[in-house]
Amino acid sequence: MKTVPPDPNIVVWFQDGYVRLGDANVNILTHGLNYGTGVFEGIRGGYNEDDHELYLIRVREHYERWKANCGIVGIKVPADVEQLCEITAELCRKNKFHSGVYVRPLAYKASARIGVHADENDAYAIVVVPFGDYFTGKRDFKAGVVTWRRVDDNAIPGRSKISGAYVNSVLAGGEARANGHDEAIFLTQDGHVAEGAASNIFMVRKGKLITPPVTDNILEGITRDCVMELARRELGLEVVERSIDRSELYICDEIFFCGTAVELISVTHIDHRLIKDGAPATITPKLQRLYADATRGRMPAYRHWLWPVHAAKKTEERHVLSV
Ligand SMILES: Cc1ncc(COP(=O)(O)O)c(C=O)c1O
Repeated sequence: MKTVPPDPNIVVWFQDGYVRLGDANVNILTHGLNYGTGVFEGIRGGYNEDDHELYLIRVREHYERWKANCGIVGIKVPADVEQLCEITAELCRKNKFHSGVYVRPLAYKASARIGVHADENDAYAIVVVPFGDYFTGKRDFKAGVVTWRRVDDNAIPGRSKISGAYVNSVLAGGEARANGHDEAIFLTQDGHVAEGAASNIFMVRKGKLITPPVTDNILEGITRDCVMELARRELGLEVVERSIDRSELYICDEIFFCGTAVELISVTHIDHRLIKDGAPATITPKLQRLYADATRGRMPAYRHWLWPVHAAKKTEERHVLSV
């Protein structure tokens, strides 16, 4: 995973305007920073070299989810979904991004004072950075069940992408890496498979694609939704949302994680056991290809998932030239 700090001269959206990233700072007493009262999103833009176009992937759905999740915490985002999409596309244009990007919207409780009680002072920011592959060039990808349990809906709702809840993911990821894995697998409090530290999980068993239901404390992933649609429509697979036992991971045929950052990543080892004795996965690579094609504008049937960043600008320029 690349962890290079972004260029401080990148233009970002902060306090209702466009500013340099280096100038987008908050007070040390900000409520969101002290108590974790933020809700964030992660959105990807995929670049298509042939079209010279940057496509924001399911950006509307991401902003719809973000606004709904903010509502769970009582944070208000005054802009509507269409305006948020426009701001994001404009940030890509202002920064002249002609590559893959990652978009990080963050809404938070903004009062700078001591006290857990939250007030109505909410703020939001949107940052876009160039972004490539999350786990680069790995042939073996090892996942392991960790001792930390996934946050429960009745403690901190995992479906909300609440900043403070990601301590759970940080602890899980740290334990997984300390134990020689690349990614963690969370179980729910009652011992069912939930998801990765920042991704949803699927397994293939007897030709069916199986993933935990949204009531097993998972984030309701948008990539998960894309995968289910592609599997059903393009591969004719049966997709089942049901609870998964840990031991099913040991006897299944394929496992992969999916999410905005990781896209689709095939797992080769689970708890240091080689999946299916190392037999090559067959369904995961097909889904990886379909997802890459659909999200880079190479499948017309899925164009409605994409928001072209530069096309809008070209239309504006053409309009200016013609008047
Ligand atoms: C905990 C968790 N699960 C799943 C996902 C995947 O969700 P999406 O596909 O919407 O990015 C993410 C990433 O945002 C995540 O943080």
